[in-house]
Amino acid sequence: MIRINENYTKLKASYLFADIAKRVSAYVAANPQKPVIRLGIGDVTEPLPAVCTAALHAATDEMAVRSTFKGYGPEQGYAFLREAVAQHDYAARGCAIEADEIFISDGSKCDCGNIQEIFATEGLKLAIPDPVYPVYIDTNVMAGRTGANVDGRYTGITYLDCTPANGYVPAIPSTATDLIYLCFPNNPTGAVATRAQLTAWVAYAKANNAIILFDSAYEAYIRDPAIPHSIYEIPGARDVAIEFRSFSKTAGFTGTRCAYTVVPKTLLAYDLAGKTHSVHALWNRRHTTKFNGVAYPIQKAAAAIYTDAGKAQVKTMTDFYLANAALIRTAVSNLGLSCVGGDNAPYIWINTGRDSWEFFDLLLNNAQVVCTPGAGFGKCGEGHVRISAFNSRENVETALKRIAAALKQSK
Ligand code: MLT
Repeated sequence: MIRINENYTKLKASYLFADIAKRVSAYVAANPQKPVIRLGIGDVTEPLPAVCTAALHAATDEMAVRSTFKGYGPEQGYAFLREAVAQHDYAARGCAIEADEIFISDGSKCDCGNIQEIFATEGLKLAIPDPVYPVYIDTNVMAGRTGANVDGRYTGITYLDCTPANGYVPAIPSTATDLIYLCFPNNPTGAVATRAQLTAWVAYAKANNAIILFDSAYEAYIRDPAIPHSIYEIPGARDVAIEFRSFSKTAGFTGTRCAYTVVPKTLLAYDLAGKTHSVHALWNRRHTTKFNGVAYPIQKAAAAIYTDAGKAQVKTMTDFYLANAALIRTAVSNLGLSCVGGDNAPYIWINTGRDSWEFFDLLLNNAQVVCTPGAGFGKCGEGHVRISAFNSRENVETALKRIAAALKQSK
């Protein structure tokens, strides 16, 4: 008799964004005359930078000629892209990351979700923020590292509460943990961590022989020069952290798919007998077994963002979304709601003071605007909603007018 992985039965029936998409589709089907504006899932709307499409075309032409055609590429990614990442994203910021410590992939969602496979299932102590990008939790539930969901929280996880009181940057736990998930600039709150805060996390990880999984998919939105873009800007982080980066939000690659994960060669983890193992070697083993690399034209398109023209085009694109974020922040504040994020991140986290799904329904039904209910990101997300700045200027302006009218009406 074929049996299922029963850990899946502990999960909520559907993934947060799939759940929202289903509700929105039902609304659209019932109200075809009311156009909906989507500020829910953080999906980009602006076309790829011109350098990327030019590189895509040129690389596609190479694939059409026998002498330049390419079959399987290196699973870890082509050297031209790994070297560009090492030079521009790391060496330029004073971080000692080598090209062969970078693994190119088809997305940070997959990497953040898959990385846990190389760590123990039994007895591993997890520290996960709340609210949080659901992938970190759900993949650990699937792997059997948690107990049941009791009142919205899985047993066996040390939750790192992110609340208005701590500015949505969690405190370091008072107990030891082994695998710590951090995301800055944060999804969903848009909060950023200072150098001092990250330094404290690195020290905590060192003291506990733990590993930090640092998701910096939104680093291209940092404008405050004092905020670190990478965990590796913190001395010693090479020995305790893995970093995830993505071209999705940096350069509009959500549909194009390209990302990378940095696993320093100095990073060690232990077996049951206390013997050390290279985490880089483990991840390389997993990656080469289960992944065959990102398409050559896509890697060429990604590498194009590191040219001078590419950097300028990425800056224009991220500035555009940040200008949307500023409009949202101002409009929401003018409505008397407190919010954070949007200054160094493309998300605005609004403290609605109401049930978050109720607020979601209010915006959908009365303003035809989709947001993401905070409760979907965890217990501490209750009372909040997330608004994404990824949309056209016209849609953002229309959405803000509709939200203002809907809230006035609901008073
Ligand atoms: C989000 O809306 O949180 C992100 O778009 C999800 C993702 O990057 O997978």
